[in-house]
Amino acid sequence: MNYTFEQKVKVVNGAGSIKSAGDILEEAGYKKAFIVTTAGIVKRGSVKKLQDSLAEKEIESVIFDKAIPDPPVEIVSEGAAQCKQQQCDCVVAIGGGSSIDAAKGINVLRFNDGSILDYTEKEMRQCPGLIVIPTTSGTGSELSNGAIITDTENDMKMPIPCANCMAEYAILDPELTVSMPSGITRETGLDAFSHAAEAYTSVLSNAMTDIVCESVMETIVKYLPAAYNNGNDMEAREKMQTASAVGGWMLYNACAHAGHSFAHVTGAKLHLVHGNACAYGLPVVLKIIGDAVPQKVKRIGEILGASYDGSEDAGQISEKAAAAYRNFASELELPKVPKLVLTDAEIDQLAESIVSEAFAGLCPVKVTKDIACQMVMEALDIKNQE
Ligand SMILES: NC(=O)c1ccc[n+]([C@@H]2O[C@H](COP(=O)([O-])OP(=O)(O)OC[C@H]3O[C@@H](n4cnc5c(N)ncnc54)[C@H](O)[C@@H]3O)[C@@H](O)[C@H]2O)c1
Ligand SMILES: [Fe+2]
Repeated sequence: MNYTFEQKVKVVNGAGSIKSAGDILEEAGYKKAFIVTTAGIVKRGSVKKLQDSLAEKEIESVIFDKAIPDPPVEIVSEGAAQCKQQQCDCVVAIGGGSSIDAAKGINVLRFNDGSILDYTEKEMRQCPGLIVIPTTSGTGSELSNGAIITDTENDMKMPIPCANCMAEYAILDPELTVSMPSGITRETGLDAFSHAAEAYTSVLSNAMTDIVCESVMETIVKYLPAAYNNGNDMEAREKMQTASAVGGWMLYNACAHAGHSFAHVTGAKLHLVHGNACAYGLPVVLKIIGDAVPQKVKRIGEILGASYDGSEDAGQISEKAAAAYRNFASELELPKVPKLVLTDAEIDQLAESIVSEAFAGLCPVKVTKDIACQMVMEALDIKNQE
């Protein structure tokens, strides 16, 4: 039976909750943790807090600090080999989505042979022992059922379905997110908004996910500007962390669609930062899906501050929603699309990759090559690039 609403991860949240890591691992019976993170997070002292909490319960730990943005397959293989060699019995991710996804991949390879990329389609064995501590508020990977791993040979970001490798526990401590500079706060927050907006309009959405997605979008519209403008605003940090985690839960239940197909393709091929790529893509997606789900696009527009008098047709509803989103993003000082020189053949290839990307089939309209071309041209502002 395919259930439409499920939550598998045990969550602890609140300021200072990283201190409960030792209790959680002790209760679960783990004795040696493989900590997956980045050198930057280690420098900031968050990993020390984690290790102190584990040490109090006499739980050993080993640090693997090589997770890098858009984690490549090679890092996952290297981490998995070290994790096995060190005979760790659980994997603890502490960092942004890149650390979490690298940790998911490493945990998959503790129980499954081969390369992580084999599992884009191949069924994997159940992989217990993943504990996740996010330090950004965006990907929601702590509650999602996916890991995005970069196939460096083919320049592709590959979604790995991880229903059998979700986190067992997530620790949501907003204090860990305070050190995010404003740019990362914006990028990650806009990623979370895209998760909720795309899950809300995906073909897998249902009455239960709808109500949650609306609330996630409302929370982000209210609190992302506050977190962006004052990183020490603890209420905004806490609300953004919750919204982002719940947004990840919506990815699990309803998934993202064309905006993320665009972001995965341009992230891998043009090296656009994930959250920015999502933000460039979303207004175009709102226009593309306007005829298919006008009431939902209108609701997204309203959440973003657009006003409607009831006389608008589907096209006008979408235009207003897209304009409201652009206005929201520009108040957060979203950078312009970087200068790109793309040939017609390269634009064509980007469009083809979007059509065949894993999430595109969940868009409420069929993503044809023409539609994908429109996304590339508009989202990357190609006409104004010359
Ligand atoms: N698995 C999923 O469900 C899912 C969903 C969306 C996106 N993703 C993937 O997640 C990745 C992006 O993750 P992200 O946006 O969280 O960024 P990230 O993990 O790539 O981190 C971005 C930068 O922020 C730094 N950073 C992290 N936390 C910080 C903090 N508290 N203070 C200061 N700096 C900090 C990192 O060291 C890094 O340099 C992409 O690969 C994207 O495709 C995964
Ligand atoms: Fe995302």
